[in-house]
Amino acid sequence: MSASARAHSNIALIKYWGKRDVALNLPAVGSIAITLAELATETRVEFDPHLAADHCQLDGTNVDATRISRFLDRIRARSGTNLHAKVISRNNFPTSAGLASSASGFAALTLAACAAAGLELDRRELSILARQGSGSAARSIFGGYTEMRRGSAADGHDAYAAPLLDAAAWPLTVVVAITENRAKSVDSGKGMISTAASSPFYADWVSAADADLDAMRAAIAGRDFHALGALPEHSCLKMHALMLSSKPALIYWNAATITVMHTLRALRADGVPVYFTIDAGPQVKALCPPAHSKTVTEALAAVPGVQSVWPTGLGPAAQLLDPCCK
Ligand code: DP6
Repeated sequence: MSASARAHSNIALIKYWGKRDVALNLPAVGSIAITLAELATETRVEFDPHLAADHCQLDGTNVDATRISRFLDRIRARSGTNLHAKVISRNNFPTSAGLASSASGFAALTLAACAAAGLELDRRELSILARQGSGSAARSIFGGYTEMRRGSAADGHDAYAAPLLDAAAWPLTVVVAITENRAKSVDSGKGMISTAASSPFYADWVSAADADLDAMRAAIAGRDFHALGALPEHSCLKMHALMLSSKPALIYWNAATITVMHTLRALRADGVPVYFTIDAGPQVKALCPPAHSKTVTEALAAVPGVQSVWPTGLGPAAQLLDPCCK
């Protein structure tokens, strides 16, 4: 009863921020994202009759297993097992610093735990399950360009992600500028709940989401790079306006985050096709056509406060690594 899986992180072009149901983790808005090739989580799950509780190790350190245990309970209930599990997970990038580690983490955990428990689910069901661990994880079940549907059903059966376009159909480079390696102070889930309760702009954010999603779908279908870049920049800045206007304010940026934004806008004014997006953390992700990857990478590496720069293409769907167990 063990299995391992690899899932890639994704970043949203049109952001998810806000929940319509906290217990089922249903998003208040849909989202569109891209899965990243170079940022991945590998997770091994082993259900073991000798364990009295779930154990979780992340990047070589034992961590609190509460959130993982709650998630495994859903898989135990569905598969009919009552065994506890040992979960060993590794990220090849900084955890919880705004690089979507919960997306790749819960997507890898979903695949590995279902396989270890003998549950055979299709990708849509895997996506629904992953969403209950973390909303953005629903998208990392798939590769390339993906869309997460908000859904409207109370039980969440229509809130899942689906592929929009293969990675190879429209190559894109994302240059991730790391400006801080520590975990963020307020995790996304808590931040969203606080925003919904306190930002005066929250209702407008929710009501504008469908128009943003329509525009992004059209940009992808039409391979319109300038729309593909401009829409995420706007979506991200709108989301950070919500965060800033929450009580207490959620300020995820540091000084280097802001310098990187100005650097990218100056590059664009000089004719380099590049845009940015930022999640709930201080890292900036620059979006550009692959031909401009070197220029953007060099420019970001030179910004004071940028600690490292990771260029990546678009990545594949989550996959099982050793379904036959070791
Ligand atoms: C800013 O998926 O981490 O990255 O569902 O509470 O686990 P939970 O939240 P999470 O939030 C992601 C927020 C975001 C935007 C996005 O990825 O769409």
